[in-house]
Amino acid sequence: MTKKRLGVGFIGGGFIGKFHIRSWIGVRDADILGIVDKNKKTAQEAIALIDKLRVGKATHYESITDMVIDPAIDAIWICAPNFTRLEIMEEIVDAVGSGKGELIGVACEKPLGRNVAEAEKMLALAQKAGFLDGYLENQVFSPAVVRGKEILWTRGAATTGRPYLARAAEEHSGPHLPWFWEGTLQGGGVLNDMMCHSVEEARFMLTPPGAKREVITPVKITAYTNCLKWQQPHYAKILAENSGGKTDYLNRPAEDFARSLIEYRGEKGERLIIETTTSWCYVGAGLRLSLELLGPEYALQINTLDAGLKVFFSREVKGSQGEDLVEKQNAEVGLMPVVSNEEIEYGYTAENRHMIKSFLENKRPEENFSDGVNVAELLMAAYMSAEQEKTIAFPPPKLKSFIPAVAKGEWNPAKK
Ligand SMILES: NC(=O)c1ccc[n+]([C@@H]2O[C@H](COP(=O)([O-])OP(=O)(O)OC[C@H]3O[C@@H](n4cnc5c(N)ncnc54)[C@H](O)[C@@H]3O)[C@@H](O)[C@H]2O)c1
Repeated sequence: MTKKRLGVGFIGGGFIGKFHIRSWIGVRDADILGIVDKNKKTAQEAIALIDKLRVGKATHYESITDMVIDPAIDAIWICAPNFTRLEIMEEIVDAVGSGKGELIGVACEKPLGRNVAEAEKMLALAQKAGFLDGYLENQVFSPAVVRGKEILWTRGAATTGRPYLARAAEEHSGPHLPWFWEGTLQGGGVLNDMMCHSVEEARFMLTPPGAKREVITPVKITAYTNCLKWQQPHYAKILAENSGGKTDYLNRPAEDFARSLIEYRGEKGERLIIETTTSWCYVGAGLRLSLELLGPEYALQINTLDAGLKVFFSREVKGSQGEDLVEKQNAEVGLMPVVSNEEIEYGYTAENRHMIKSFLENKRPEENFSDGVNVAELLMAAYMSAEQEKTIAFPPPKLKSFIPAVAKGEWNPAKK
């Protein structure tokens, strides 16, 4: 490996694509040199942002194949919607397989697939093509999560015993675009969209530093889902209006609340618990990510809305709605928390640094497609548990072929 610097191409320059671009000011040894986005305006916005932040000089390519075969591009970041994962990965792998393109690695946003079969196909395609694979789960790179884990394990766990309970919650007031709300397109509701973060960061916290994820093993899972807010006629109407009539939460809702309790066995057979709660019906200041890790003589807690910076605006301050204070912001007046650098706090900067460093050193990233498959397995087992209203031994039979009712457009708690 002689490369000292990577050229990176983005597929998807929307919401998360722009988060990654903003994070790039803290990423070394790589430039963003390409964008493919179905929407030309979005592609141009992303290119303008790359220019403004001086994190590369991006070309807009008409197709994924055109971008992959350009020798300037060494790695791809997949930041397009969930329902496009497989077709995108297939095109990348075909372009590499035809001998026209060469890639060192591909990094893919969460979730790796909408179900286990899709996630496994993503992994198999990466292995077939022979490039390195990174799974973009930002939260396991968040500085508070990483530093908190280090401190608790080296001080607390080393002297009084390993942690046994991790609690993670991801909550906001609902996704920004209609496709997220459609179970068939997204793969589910909030369970698929946000519990992918919770189960993985909680698993990360309970895994001893430096150990492989296999040292702790999930043995059973109990989950619950419901649609608490967005199936109410007033709110269902808002979703329908926002989607030109397509999103129909009266008849085809997705869950806006989901929780799970996963029992693991530790390296010495200890009983460990992961508790997660996720919702699209939390109306606080904005996105709230919280995490707790508990052991015999210690505890850790993180809440992203307990930000160091708070601002106050009286009712005389009038302005337009925005997300300039915090992601998924719900208000512009009163006492407001501000996450002063969301790209760093949520883990995107460290995540991208890690992916680039791994690719340059020709090493598989620590968070990779195998982790993405494991996350999909846990989420699908959670859907099984919620549908059957019982605890499921893990791994359950038929997990690989399981598609949740919500992903088939067949789930409706109002009809129970
Ligand atoms: N890590 C996180 O916390 C986080 C946060 C938000 C989104 N995401 C993930 O990122 C992905 C994208 O989400 P988003 O919020 O940016 O969505 P988005 O809809 O805002 O952006 C997606 C972009 O992809 C483009 N696109 C659609 N189909 C395409 C195709 N076939 N080829 C190329 N471009 C295509 C769209 O035009 C759009 O600009 C999703 O998988 C989502 O789960 C992760």
